[in-house]
Amino acid sequence: MSIEVSIINNKASNPATLPTLTEELRQSILRKTEKTSLFLKQAVVEFPNVTFANSLGAEDMVLTDIISRGSLPIEIFSLDTGRLPKETYDLITEAESHYQKKFKIYFPNFEKVEDYVNTNGINAFYQSTDLRKACCFIRKVEPLTRALASKQAWITGMRAEQSKTRSDLPFREYDSSNKLEKLNPLSDWTEKEIWGYIRIHSVPYNKLHDEFYPSIGCAPCTRAIAMGEDIRAGRWWWEDENGKECGLHVKQNLNP
Ligand code: ADX
Ligand code: SF4
Repeated sequence: MSIEVSIINNKASNPATLPTLTEELRQSILRKTEKTSLFLKQAVVEFPNVTFANSLGAEDMVLTDIISRGSLPIEIFSLDTGRLPKETYDLITEAESHYQKKFKIYFPNFEKVEDYVNTNGINAFYQSTDLRKACCFIRKVEPLTRALASKQAWITGMRAEQSKTRSDLPFREYDSSNKLEKLNPLSDWTEKEIWGYIRIHSVPYNKLHDEFYPSIGCAPCTRAIAMGEDIRAGRWWWEDENGKECGLHVKQNLNP
């Protein structure tokens, strides 16, 4: 099977971000949008202070758009690790302006970051999985616990298709680490449906997606993938496949 790669500004552009909008795809996007919108409306009724963790990835931009179109009173927050790519910061600015909504930003504890960096080095995460997980704990997991404190439920943009570790992702589960309900309304969306939605509704998105970055985290820990590679292959690519999660979505106690 040949895969076409389009060229934009002399750069190869990831064809996955531009799916052909067949009638069948449009219909499935319409059905899933209605289902997701209803799911979110019910979530607001059941959990009035539900909050949405927005990494600015493609899935999270779809959820942001659905929340905005439905004028749903859902807080949106992002964890700024201090090491995000420029394109992600640009998108925060663009999205806040597009949706006329402020995203609440959480930063890591500066003393913990200083201590980690001064003890281990500025890019110590490449040295070992333990040091990588310790960095993720300081820059993401601890700030997440503050973002979720006093909340009854949180929403993520995770999809079952994204990785083996997410293949049985439920729409709703109990987050035993953070002790609240966790809602994954896009669990059954396909990558095509995500990108079809983004194109149909002209949703702002991270330009790195066009450059073969299907999954985007911190700049030093994310690379572009090759055609045919797993969509999370560019995350912590120097580690082996098992357990490539940063700790935001693991069910265990929060010690690094
Ligand atoms: S990760 O565990 O590998 O970093 P991933 O990038 O796939 O997670 O994102 C999955 C979901 O986790 C996102 O849809 C979002 O809900 C949440 N998330 C991840 N990173 C952040 C972030 N920096 N800020 C807010 N939410 C995030
Ligand atoms: Fe640190 Fe990399 Fe984890 Fe970001 S993804 S918190 S830079 S180890």
